[in-house]
Amino acid sequence: MLGLSKRKPVAGAARDAVAPFLPWSEKYRVGNEAIDNDHHRLFELINQFHAAVHGGQAPRVVKATLEELLDYVRQHFDREEKIMALARYPDLARHREMHARLRRAVAATEMSYQVAARIFDFTSFLSFLQSWLTKHILVEDRKFADFAGQS
Ligand SMILES: [Fe+2]
Repeated sequence: MLGLSKRKPVAGAARDAVAPFLPWSEKYRVGNEAIDNDHHRLFELINQFHAAVHGGQAPRVVKATLEELLDYVRQHFDREEKIMALARYPDLARHREMHARLRRAVAATEMSYQVAARIFDFTSFLSFLQSWLTKHILVEDRKFADFAGQS
């Protein structure tokens, strides 16, 4: 049939073509399955948000992906802190404080997005989150995983 060869690409194909902003790598695996699964999902949500911003998605889609990401950050911190408490991690208070600082940054991000979405600095927010998260996983979460692996 003539018409079939002229089909337009589906909208999803263009979205899939965007390279991941923060590719998952085995180096981020700390050895605790629940924490690793959460971190992997966080990377996916960051990439989803990045793709929405740079793929020209509608503002409501960008807003929804940002909210999903920030909610997941908070849920992940809650789960991770529970795992650490159960393992009687001696450095939990300091770790909780690091999470608390990011929770405050997340709240400030939500506020600035709500007040002025049009001038929201997506690039700065994404690079801040990428830098914070990768350092935190590779240094701080790994310290916990090492502790838990020894006990
Ligand atoms: Fe953590």
